[in-house]
Amino acid sequence: MSSDPTSPVDIVVVGSINADLTVRVRRHPHPGETLLGSGGGITPGGKGANQAVAAALQGGAVAMVGAVGTDAYAEPATEYLRSSGVDMSGVASVDETTGLAVITVSDDGENSIVVVPGANATVTADFVEERAPLIESARVVLLQGEIPADGFAAAVRLATGRVVVNLAPVIEVDRKSLLRADPIMANEHEAGLLLEQLGAGISSDIPEELVSALLDAGFPSVVLTIGARGALVGDTSGLTKIPTPRITPVDTVGAGDAFAGAFVARLVAGDDLVTASRHAARVGAFAATGHGAQTSYPGMGDQLPEA
Ligand code: RIB
Repeated sequence: MSSDPTSPVDIVVVGSINADLTVRVRRHPHPGETLLGSGGGITPGGKGANQAVAAALQGGAVAMVGAVGTDAYAEPATEYLRSSGVDMSGVASVDETTGLAVITVSDDGENSIVVVPGANATVTADFVEERAPLIESARVVLLQGEIPADGFAAAVRLATGRVVVNLAPVIEVDRKSLLRADPIMANEHEAGLLLEQLGAGISSDIPEELVSALLDAGFPSVVLTIGARGALVGDTSGLTKIPTPRITPVDTVGAGDAFAGAFVARLVAGDDLVTASRHAARVGAFAATGHGAQTSYPGMGDQLPEA
């Protein structure tokens, strides 16, 4: 791991970098309702940056491709990327505001998030193509849904290694790019939207049926996260249920990103899909026991909960 742009990287994350403005509330407000909350601090976030940091903390050699603004939020948004050793040579500072996520977390650990893309909206095809050598050199390119669709497609086009996609949020991307995902990682809600996007929608929300439908739609492999029930991995060899540790969630913000980053770190270390998912489930559970996204992620020395 190094921020030296000439160092080889295994994983390139092409994605969002946000400043997370988080408030805690007893419960989420109803439409039109005002509630009192607490907090209001800024912590580093963005699904792309979160996954990059999680992968780096789990031993991956990671580079980030993305953009921040020239405002005061750029520094806190990138603090953990830098401190966890992510190569920042593909990150630009553009004349925009840094991506901002306004997050409420309730006492039961559930969250709601509104994202203002800001600089992330400049991660277009041109932006991505300017960073072609970095992306082409990656063993894994990891993508989410918080950059423009043409930037997503350009990253897939340039990828010479494995493409892993966690299309959160689910945006419209071209079918050919999407089906390069091996695996596609999604929660149940996202799986339903992906199937609709591919014209393969099903009425069932049974996890096994969602995974089978995604495989039938053309993905070579699927990792479906099913919250406190763990995950389900599917490929040509069949379906495998992945247990998750029992924990009391404090804040689930970024727990899915911790799963995705840790999963990819283990894939490049040589694990198969199932073994990588077992480890990722423990990392995701650890993340849900702490506050914030990147601020809650474990390093290699942390004791992970047992599934
Ligand atoms: O997945 C959690 C992330 O979603 C937050 O860090 C926030 O920035 C939004 O992108």
